[in-house]
Amino acid sequence: MANASGEALDKFEPGTLDHKSSGTTYRLFFRDKQAILSFQSDREPQVSGERQLDYFLGSGHLGITYLYSIHGYLFESPVAYYSASHSYDMKPGLESITEMPPALHMQASCMRCHMSAVQQSDPGTINHYNGLPFLHAGITCEACHGDTQRHLATGGKAAVINPAKLDADRRDSICISCHLEGDVSVERPGRSAIDYKPGESISDYLSFYVYEGKDATRRGVSEVEQLSMSKCKRTSGDKMSCTSCHDPHYTPASQQRAAFYRSKCLACHTDATFAASHHPENPDCTSCHMPRSGAENIPHVAWTDHRIRKITDNAAEAIKDLGEGDTLTPIFSPHATRRDLALAYYKGLLEGNLALQPKVFQALDELRPEISTDTEALNALAISSEKHGDHKQATELFEQVLKVDPQNLTALSDLGILRAKSGDLQEAIALLRPAFERNQDVIGLAKNLAQVQCMLGDAVSARMTLEKTLQFSPGLEDVQQMLTQMASCSSVKQ
Ligand code: HEC
Ligand code: HEC
Ligand code: HEC
Ligand code: HEC
Ligand code: HEC
Ligand code: HEC
Repeated sequence: MANASGEALDKFEPGTLDHKSSGTTYRLFFRDKQAILSFQSDREPQVSGERQLDYFLGSGHLGITYLYSIHGYLFESPVAYYSASHSYDMKPGLESITEMPPALHMQASCMRCHMSAVQQSDPGTINHYNGLPFLHAGITCEACHGDTQRHLATGGKAAVINPAKLDADRRDSICISCHLEGDVSVERPGRSAIDYKPGESISDYLSFYVYEGKDATRRGVSEVEQLSMSKCKRTSGDKMSCTSCHDPHYTPASQQRAAFYRSKCLACHTDATFAASHHPENPDCTSCHMPRSGAENIPHVAWTDHRIRKITDNAAEAIKDLGEGDTLTPIFSPHATRRDLALAYYKGLLEGNLALQPKVFQALDELRPEISTDTEALNALAISSEKHGDHKQATELFEQVLKVDPQNLTALSDLGILRAKSGDLQEAIALLRPAFERNQDVIGLAKNLAQVQCMLGDAVSARMTLEKTLQFSPGLEDVQQMLTQMASCSSVKQ
C-alpha cells in the first residue's frame, strides 16, 4: 500500500495513444527530468498542448493514472496506463468519447484512499489548492497508527494507535475507511471523510448504503462487505478481522502466497485430521474457497472473493442478483439517520438510477425543519425543488445555504441561474462571477456566466470568461462555437 501513489517520475513509461473516436493523439515522454503528457487534435490543428504530470495514483496492479495541475487546479489525466496490455488507453468511462474530453477535476474525496494527509481544497472550490493537495504519497504508517510525528516529538508520550488494541468498531474502522464504498456513501452532517483519523469510528464520518438485492461482488471496493457475509466471520464475530489473514506490513511473495494464507485458515480450522485429509492434492485453500473473479481489469472491483464459501458456483448465483431497484439499506453504519438516507437516494438519482426519482423529493422535503445549517441537504432539497418547478422554495433554500457558507459553489451557481431566468441579470452576475473566479475550470459555470455577460451586452467579458475556461479544456467544440458566436453578443441575446 505504500506504493499506492507517488511522484509521477517514479512510475512512468513513455508511450503513445492514438485515440480514434475523440480524434486525439496523446504522447507521454520524459523531458528535462519531467514526465510530460502532450495532446494534439487530429481534427483541429490549433488544439494542442502539454501537461506536466506531477503524481501517479495506483500501485500498478491493474493500472496507473496521473495527476497534473494548472494554476493551482488539480486534474486527473484522461489517459491511464493499463498493466494487462502494458500500454496507455483512455481512463475508464472515456473509451468511446467523441471529442477531446474536458479537464477531469481531481477531488479530495477521490484521493483520500490513495494518499496520506489529504488536504481540503481551497474554500468554495472543487479542486483548487494554494498549497500541496496532500502531504505524503502512498499509505503511510499514520493512515493506520495515527500521528506518529507527535509520538516522536513527545518522546513517546503521545500515544501511537495500535489497531489491535482498539475496540472492534474502531479497529475495523481503519480498514473500512478505505476498503468499503457501498453503492452510495454519504458524509455525515458537517463531516468530511478526509478528516477521519485512526482511533475514531468511521460511522461518525460516513454512512454507507447498498441496493437491496444487489450482488455484493458487483460493487466497488467491497472486501469488507463480502467478508461480513462469510460463515467464518459470522461465526467468529469480533475475533475475526482483516488482519486475521493480512499483515498490513507485509505482502507474501507469490511462492509463499499459498502457504501464508493456508496458515491463516488453519489458525482457526485447527482440526489436524481435517487439514491433512481435506484436499491434500492442493495446499492452496484460497484457490477453491476464495477464487478470483474475472473482474481483474476493472478498478475498484474486489477480485478475490472474500465471501469464503463452500460452493463457488457463480452462474447459479447470478440469477439472484436483483440489480439496483429503488431501495437502499445502510451497512456498517449504526448512526445512519433519515437525513443520510434521503441524501443517499439523492446521490443514487444523480448517478443515474431513475427508479429513485419518486422517493427523493419527499424524503428531502420531510427534512426541511431539521436542516437549517446543513448545506449539503439544503442544496439537495433546493435542486429537487427546482426540478419540481418550485423556484420560490429553491431560491429560499439556496439563500439559506449562502448565509451559512457564502462561497458555496452549488448555491452560487444554481441561484445565479435562477436569478438570470427571472430576468435579474445584475444579481445573477454578482453570484456567478465570484464563483467562476474561484472555479475557472468548471465549464458549465463558465458557459452560464458568459451567457449572462452577453445578455448584458458585454461581449468582451463573455469572451474572456470562455477563453479562461478553454485554457483547461481546449478541445471543447461547443465552447469554441459559443466563443465565435460571441464576437458580438446580439446573436445570443434572448
Ligand atoms: C474508498 C476508498 C477509495 C476511493 C474513494 C478511491 N479508491 Fe481507488 N482504490 C481503492 C482500493 C482499496 C483499491 C485496490 C483495489 C480494490 O481493493 O478494489 C483501488 C484501486 C484503484 C486503482 C487501481 C490501482 C492498481 O493498483 O492497479 C486506480 C487506478 C484507482 N483506484 C483510482 C482511483 C480514482 C481515480 C479515484 C477517485 C475517482 C479513486 N480511486 C477513489 C480505494 C479507493
Ligand atoms: C494498513 C494499515 C497499517 C499501516 C499502513 C501500518 N500499520 Fe503497523 N499495524 C497495523 C495493525 C492492524 C497492527 C496490529 C497488528 C496485530 O497485532 O494484529 C499494527 C502493528 C504495528 C506494530 C506493533 C505495535 C505494538 O504495539 O505491538 C508496529 C511497531 C507497527 N505496526 C509499525 C508500523 C510502521 C512503522 C508503519 C509504517 C512503515 C506501519 N506500522 C504501517 C496496521 C498498519
Ligand atoms: C488510507 C487508505 C487505506 C487504509 C486505511 C487501508 N488500506 Fe489497504 N489499500 C489501500 C489502497 C489504495 C490499496 C490499493 C493500492 C493499489 O493497488 O494501488 C490497498 C491495498 C490493500 C491490499 C492489497 C495488497 C497490497 O498490499 O497492496 C490489502 C490486502 C489491504 N489493502 C489490506 C488492508 C487492511 C487489512 C487494512 C486495515 C488494517 C487496510 N488495508 C487499510 C488503502 C488503504
Ligand atoms: C478467525 C477464524 C477463521 C479464519 C481465519 C478462517 N475461518 Fe473459515 N470458518 C471459521 C468458523 C468459526 C466457521 C464456521 C464453523 C465451521 O463451520 O467450522 C468457518 C467456516 C468455514 C467454511 C464453511 C463455509 C460454509 O458456508 O459452510 C469454509 C469453507 C471456510 N471456513 C474456509 C476457510 C478458509 C479457506 C480460510 C482461510 C482462507 C478460513 N476459513 C479462515 C473461522 C475462520
Ligand atoms: C480469510 C482470509 C482473509 C480475510 C479475513 C481477508 N482477506 Fe483480503 N485477501 C485474502 C486473500 C487470500 C487474498 C488474495 C491474495 C493474493 O492473491 O495474493 C486477498 C486479497 C485482498 C485484497 C487485494 C484485492 C483482491 O481482491 O484480490 C484486498 C484489498 C483485501 N484482500 C482486503 C481485505 C480487507 C479490507 C479485509 C477485511 C475486511 C480482508 N481483506 C480480509 C484473504 C483474506
Ligand atoms: C480443491 C478445492 C479445495 C481446497 C484446496 C480446499 N477446499 Fe475446503 N472445501 C472444498 C469443497 C468443494 C467443500 C464442500 C464439500 C465438502 O465438504 O467437502 C469444502 C468444504 C470446506 C469446509 C466446510 C467443511 C464442512 O464440514 O462443512 C471447510 C471449513 C473448508 N473446506 C476449509 C478448507 C481449508 C481450511 C482449506 C485449506 C487447508 C481447504 N478447505 C482447501 C474444496 C476445497
